[in-house]
Amino acid sequence: MTENIVETKNLLSGYGKLKVLFDVNFKARKNDITVVVGPNGAGKTTLLNSIIGLATIHDGSVIFDGQDVTKVPPHKKAKLGIAYLMQMGNVASTLTVEENLRVAGYLMPRSEVNDRIQEILEMFPRLKEFVHRKAGTLSGGERRMLAIGMAMMRKPKVLMLDEMSTDLAPKIVKQVMNKIVELRDQYDLSVILVEQNAKKALEIGDYAYLLVSGTVRYEGNPQELLTHPKFAKLYLGISE
Ligand SMILES: Nc1ncnc2c1ncn2[C@@H]1O[C@H](COP(=O)(O)OP(=O)(O)OP(=O)(O)O)[C@@H](O)[C@H]1O
Ligand SMILES: [Mg+2]
Repeated sequence: MTENIVETKNLLSGYGKLKVLFDVNFKARKNDITVVVGPNGAGKTTLLNSIIGLATIHDGSVIFDGQDVTKVPPHKKAKLGIAYLMQMGNVASTLTVEENLRVAGYLMPRSEVNDRIQEILEMFPRLKEFVHRKAGTLSGGERRMLAIGMAMMRKPKVLMLDEMSTDLAPKIVKQVMNKIVELRDQYDLSVILVEQNAKKALEIGDYAYLLVSGTVRYEGNPQELLTHPKFAKLYLGISE
């Protein structure tokens, strides 16, 4: 049993020759919500891309549940239990809610798909009301819930979410964040939450990282970061 679900050790990564992350030691503990914040271009998405295998790893390693997965390709990592909801990643608007969930479960044994869809609809009661509606007719918040539901189809051990709150009204952001907390508590999920909307994310986080220019500038208690005399204002636009 390892205590961390995901870990990077001295990670040096980027895209091709470009180096974006420098010596990043990141840990996401099991059953925690680990929040990653930082300014535009800091390398937050690149960290998730490095973990799933969509970035170039120049040096260092990625560990998943105690196993070195640095060289494991993305689809195999998905099978191991890493779900990744990409920034701007969305649902298929012309398909219904149910069809979207079915697509998300396409690699699962057929016999399990129907049951799992029912379980997902229990997790997201609002989606249950709309199960036969085309996803394109859902509100921004409902669509985000569906995207999370799709990521949950394969019972991931860790869910990586990139910018869930973009373009959502504050009230809806709160609903999405509450849902993430509920999933952690009720389904034993570990979450890595990358967010521009730093305040809302840090409020629900168990542990936080601040990335600046590809390096870890802070790690520790999210509340402390929220109220940090320098960092909160300088990097997160939080000014109390
Ligand atoms: N596919 C790519 N190919 C080349 N360079 C990239 C690619 N994706 C990102 N970059 C570069 O890597 C750097 C870090 O980008 P990244 O997307 O990780 O930042 P971020 O912290 O997620 O920013 P944002 O808050 O805007 O989403 C940027 O300079 C960006 O231009
Ligand atoms: Mg990003």
